[in-house]
Amino acid sequence: MAANRVSTLHRTAFVTGASTGLGRAFTEMLLAEGVRVWGTSRDPARLGSICSAHTGAFTPVALDLRDAAAAIATFRAMDRNAGGFDLLVNNAGYGAFGEFATAEFESWRDQLEVMLVNTASLAHAALPGMLQRQHGALVNISSLAAEFPLPFQPAYNMAKAGLTALSESLMIETRGSGVVVLDVRPGDYRTDFEGSVTRLPGSRTPRAARAWQAFEGMMRSGPPPEHAAAALRRALLRNESGTVRTGRFFQATLAPLLTRLAPLSLSRRIQASYFGLR
Ligand SMILES: NC(=O)c1ccc[n+]([C@@H]2O[C@H](COP(=O)([O-])OP(=O)(O)OC[C@H]3O[C@@H](n4cnc5c(N)ncnc54)[C@H](OP(=O)(O)O)[C@@H]3O)[C@@H](O)[C@H]2O)c1
Repeated sequence: MAANRVSTLHRTAFVTGASTGLGRAFTEMLLAEGVRVWGTSRDPARLGSICSAHTGAFTPVALDLRDAAAAIATFRAMDRNAGGFDLLVNNAGYGAFGEFATAEFESWRDQLEVMLVNTASLAHAALPGMLQRQHGALVNISSLAAEFPLPFQPAYNMAKAGLTALSESLMIETRGSGVVVLDVRPGDYRTDFEGSVTRLPGSRTPRAARAWQAFEGMMRSGPPPEHAAAALRRALLRNESGTVRTGRFFQATLAPLLTRLAPLSLSRRIQASYFGLR
C-alpha cells in the first residue's frame, strides 16, 4: 500500500538552505508531514521563526558550502546526532550573472565549488550510512536550467547539469539498494533567488540587460515555493528514484516534450529569442 505521510517512510531529514525560498518550503512541508528536520543557513539566526514554530522538531544548523571541510564535518556530527539521516535535501544555491569571458574565472569556479563539488561531497558523506541501513533518500535540487541553460549564468548551468548527471549516475548505481535518488528540476519559482544573484562584470551590457529582464520577469511571475514542496512530497511518497520536473506547465511539461520532438537547434533559437538574444 502506498504511504500517505512522509514520516511513515522517513523520520529525519537534513535540508541545506532552509532559511528562505524552496528550502524553507521543503522544510515546512517535511515538518508538517511529521519528519524531524535539521535545516541549515550560513546565519542560523535566519532560522529563528522556524525554530520557534516547531520546537523540538527542528534543529538549526550553521553551514556554509564555501568551506567543504567544515560543511562535511558539520554534516557528519549532525548525522550521528540524528542516528543517521533518512533524507538529505541538497537545496542550497545561488545565482551569479555576467558574461563568461569578462567576469573573473574565480567567480565561476567558486560557484561550481559551492553548488556542484561541495554539494556532491554532502551526498558522498550521506550515502554510506543510507546504503548500510538499506534505507534513505537523496534529493538533489537541480534546475530546468540543466536542460534549458540560462544565458549569462554559465556556471549555474554547469553546476545544475553536473548535479543532474550525479543523480542520474546514482539512480543506476543504487538500484535495488533501498536508497531512493531524486533529481528535482524546478522551473522558475517566486523566491528570493533573483534578489540574491551576484552581478558580475559584463552583466550590464545591452544584451545582458535584455536577458536579465526576461529572467527577472519569469522569476517574479513563477508559482510560490509551496508548489515545488507539494511536488517533492508526492515524489517522496512514491518512494522510487526518478526525475521530478516541477513548475509552470509550459516550462516543466510542454518545453521538455517539445525538445524531444523538435531539433535542438530550434529549441536554442526559441530560447535565444525569448531572452532577447537573436
Ligand atoms: N527559485 C527558482 O526559480 C529555482 C529554480 C530552479 C532551481 N532552483 C534551486 O533551488 C535552490 C533554492 O533556491 P531558492 O530559489 O529557494 O533561492 P533562495 O531563496 O535565494 O535560497 C537560497 C538558499 O541557499 C542558501 N545558500 C546560499 N549560498 C549558500 C552557501 N554558500 N552555503 C550554504 N547555503 C547557502 C541560503 O541560505 P543563507 O543565505 O541563509 O545562508 C538560502 O537558504 C537553489 O539550489 C536553486 O538553484 C531555484
